[in-house]
Amino acid sequence: TPRVFSGIQPSGGLTLGNYLGALKRFADSQDSGVQSVFCMVDMHAITVWQDPAKLRNATRELCAGFIASGVDPEKSILFNQSAVSGHAELAWVFNCVARMGWMQRMTQWKDKAGKNQQNASLGLFAYPALMAADILLYQATHVPVGEDQKQHVELTRDIAIKFNHDYGVDFFPVPEPVIEGTATRVMSLRDGSKKMSKSDPSDMSRINLTDDADTIAGKIRKARTDPDALPSEPEGLEGRAEARNLVNIYAALNGQTQAEVLADVGGKQFSEFKPMLADLAVTKLSPISGEMARLTETPDEIDAILRRGADRAREIADPVIAKTLEIVGMVR
Ligand code: TYM
Repeated sequence: TPRVFSGIQPSGGLTLGNYLGALKRFADSQDSGVQSVFCMVDMHAITVWQDPAKLRNATRELCAGFIASGVDPEKSILFNQSAVSGHAELAWVFNCVARMGWMQRMTQWKDKAGKNQQNASLGLFAYPALMAADILLYQATHVPVGEDQKQHVELTRDIAIKFNHDYGVDFFPVPEPVIEGTATRVMSLRDGSKKMSKSDPSDMSRINLTDDADTIAGKIRKARTDPDALPSEPEGLEGRAEARNLVNIYAALNGQTQAEVLADVGGKQFSEFKPMLADLAVTKLSPISGEMARLTETPDEIDAILRRGADRAREIADPVIAKTLEIVGMVR
C-alpha cells in the first residue's frame, strides 16, 4: 500500500522554499486518499548544536507552520521524531548497513561539514541513515521533497535494497522521491545560482513565512534581476536564473505552469512584474503567517497535537521496528 513520509528540520524559521518545495505540496496531496506521515525532525536538528529553548520553540513553530499551510493533523499524522523511539533504533541498524563511502559522497555532508570534517559531529555524518530510518520505519513508498533532498532519498533506496539483500528478505519497500512542480528548487533572491536557505547570512536572500507584508514586498522589489523584459515562452528563461526563479515562484504560488504565467506576463518589464509578484506573495502568505502567530500563542495545544500524532505514528512504527530486530537476530 502506498504511504507518504516527509520531514522538516526545526532549525530556525521556515522559508518560502520550505513552503513551496514541501509544505504546500504536502497540503495539496493529502486528499489523494494516501496515508501521509509528516515529521518535525528534532533529532536531525541537533546534528549541529541547538539552544534547547530555541529548539523547543522552533519545533512548535514548525508544527504551526504545517497546520497554517493546510496540513490537517486529523487527516495526516504530524509528530516530532524524538517522540517515537523507533527512529533512533532503526537508525542504528542502518548505521550498520550503510557504508562510509556512501556517506562521504553526500553533497549536504560536504557542504555542511565544510573544510574541517574532523570537527563535525558524528551525527552529521550519519544524518542520511537517520533519514532512511524515518522513511522506512513507516514503510513509506513516496517521499515528497525539494530537489536538495534527492540524493538522500536515493541513499535511502540503497539502504533498503542492501538490508533486504543482506538478510534475504523482501521487507523494506524501495521508496520513490517525489519532486514535482515549478518550485522544487527555490533560489536566493540575491543570487540565482544559490538555493534559498534559512542559513544564508543575508535575510534579503529569502522570504520567511513570518515576514510581514511590507518586508515581503521590499524583498521582492530589491530581488536581483537582469535588465531584459520577461519572455513569452519558457525557452526564453534559458540562462536567466533570476528571472526563472521569480517566474517559478509566481507559478507555484498561483498554481500555474511557467508557460501559463509567461503567456500572461511575457513582454512586461520587471518593474511591472515585481509588484504583481509581491501582491500575490502577500495575498498567499499573510494568512499563513497570521495563522502561525495565532497557533503559537497556545503551545499546550500544539504539544497535544504532537503527542496525539506520535501515538498514531507509533501504531505504524512499533510492529516495523519489532520485525526488523527479529530479522536482524536480536533476542526478543
Ligand atoms: P529541510 O528541513 O532542510 O527542508 C525541508 C523541506 O523543504 C525543502 N526545501 C526546499 N524546496 C525548494 N526550494 C528550496 N530553496 C528549499 N529549501 C528547502 C527540502 O527539500 C525539504 O523537502 N533532511 C531533510 C529533513 C528530513 C526528511 C526526512 C525529509 C529528515 N528526514 C525524511 C524527507 C524524508 C531536511 O533537512 O530538510
